[in-house]
Amino acid sequence: MKIDGVHYRTIFPAEDGDGIMVIDQTRLPFAFALLRLRDMDEAAQAIVTMVVRGAPLIGATAAYGVAMQMRADPSDASLAGAIRRLTATRPTAVNLHWALSRMERCLSAVPTSQRAERAFAEAAALCDEDVEQCRQIGAHAMTLIAERHRETGRPVNILTHCNAGWLACVDWGTALSPIYQAHDAGIPVHVWVDETRPRNQGAALTAYELGGHGVPHTVIVDNAGGHLMQHGKVDMCITGTDRTTATGDVANKIGTYLKALAARDNGVPFYVTLPASTIDWTIDDGVSGIEIEERAEREVTHLTGLTDSGTIETIRVVAPGSPAGNPAFDVTPARLVTRLITERGICEASRKGLLGLYPERRAAA
Ligand code: MRU
Repeated sequence: MKIDGVHYRTIFPAEDGDGIMVIDQTRLPFAFALLRLRDMDEAAQAIVTMVVRGAPLIGATAAYGVAMQMRADPSDASLAGAIRRLTATRPTAVNLHWALSRMERCLSAVPTSQRAERAFAEAAALCDEDVEQCRQIGAHAMTLIAERHRETGRPVNILTHCNAGWLACVDWGTALSPIYQAHDAGIPVHVWVDETRPRNQGAALTAYELGGHGVPHTVIVDNAGGHLMQHGKVDMCITGTDRTTATGDVANKIGTYLKALAARDNGVPFYVTLPASTIDWTIDDGVSGIEIEERAEREVTHLTGLTDSGTIETIRVVAPGSPAGNPAFDVTPARLVTRLITERGICEASRKGLLGLYPERRAAA
């Protein structure tokens, strides 16, 4: 996507060959800054500290982390160590494991002398595929927005949670891709942006993205969605997912489940967008089977923002001494998901639906 007329991907090899460049998402929306990651350890740290975040981008960063490690030391022990270190960065998004398994499979078949070159090529291919898949997800999901516009003749109000836009992927995004494509095609849309406490990915990142693209939007507090749905102000919800089970349960940013419950109660369609790399075919029940990341209390007790005098400050907002809990994701059962939308098309959130789009998985199911 474009920033000040320049097209950026969220991750790309540095032009001078020294490491990779990412957008430092901890500084958005107040500053757009590129950050150089020089080695595998810096890539792992960037994932842990959420300089980069969002399921597909975590996978892409891990892939480049392996590539940088192969440049430093292409031995088997070094490859295994890099996979171990990067696997431990964040537990919920399965794209991380998918990307690391892909790198491991590819590199173990290659002599050590060729590993670095092969690893960078594979990481680049993975990024290119992510861009194309996100574009395709958007094209499929856009048909649902267009259909709603044809039915009502007015702007389509879409509620989204967290950030599943281009910042969460390599480009385009998953949930925001159809919104960009609809907007670009002249279909009027308006997005309700959940602020997404505790880290405010909605207020900070989704609002930044939509504003940059000229898409009409309104930031709302996380608890407003149900009220808006009761009053007919939401035509559909579209979110991303960090891990989708073989039966169509979806883990996504904490609070997604409550939006899906409110949507069901109000007859509002709840769509979830994802590339195939987000499907965990080994898990059936998301609630018992998906590990939910617990993050630091400080993300709940403190807020960082821009003061009126233009300085960035962090302040405590919770009563001193009160403990805070911080589960970062929740699971929305398939029964609450109206449709899954992948790069291959639109399907029911069920094993049957997913196997319809990915028939090659039938033998394993
Ligand atoms: O904790 P984050 O910011 O990495 O969480 C991101 C989300 O929950 C996104 O919705 C998800 O990764 C899908 S991104 C296409």
